[in-house]
Amino acid sequence: MDQFAEQLIHGRTHISPKRLGDPGPTEAQKETILLAANAAPDHGRMLPWRFIEIQNSSRANLGEVFKLSLLDRDPNATAAQQQEAYEKAFRGPLLLLAVANYQDPNDDISKQEKLISLGCAIQNILLSAYAYGFGSGLSSGRALQSDRIRTLFRFTKDEEPICFITIGTVQKNKPGRIRPSLSEYHSIF
Ligand SMILES: Cc1cc2nc3c(=O)[nH]c(=O)nc-3n(C[C@H](O)[C@H](O)[C@H](O)COP(=O)(O)O)c2cc1C
Repeated sequence: MDQFAEQLIHGRTHISPKRLGDPGPTEAQKETILLAANAAPDHGRMLPWRFIEIQNSSRANLGEVFKLSLLDRDPNATAAQQQEAYEKAFRGPLLLLAVANYQDPNDDISKQEKLISLGCAIQNILLSAYAYGFGSGLSSGRALQSDRIRTLFRFTKDEEPICFITIGTVQKNKPGRIRPSLSEYHSIF
């Protein structure tokens, strides 16, 4: 395999959003990174996903939803825990929310297929960011399942938020995980 492709695929690792700082991608880099998503396999060309960029002026609203979702789950959450939940919305210079869209007028293509298409689009985004030298991390968390998030982003009934993608410059890195060996996931039939 071409060395660059191999380095790209195997070099990317999950970086915690709290370790991703400035600078983030320029506008031109951001556009290239986002355009990588549209090369994902997409059965039926349904575009079963979209990405919402959380601009800086919206982060406080998102942080408030994180905090209130925590309080819904745990009314006894301490002030420090509430503050931590709030601050999660401020991590990383580029914050995207990956949203699946299961709408299908004919029910021809399964929900799973649409989710796989979104997964491929996310990976294209992660690899493009990595090719520019940025780190990235995915994060989900219980707040994503809350009605508060649905209301904040005005999702349609067919949409489901899947995870956040944070992209930025790696401030501090931990060693990547040991990846599974081939025999763990490959067999011959
Ligand atoms: C949909 C999705 C959601 C994720 N959410 C989280 C998360 O909330 N917190 C976290 O630490 N990692 C999260 N991850 C990242 C995984 O933990 C990470 O990819 C995994 O440890 C493998 O490491 P690698 O990406 O460096 O190979 C998520 C990954 C996916 C695919």
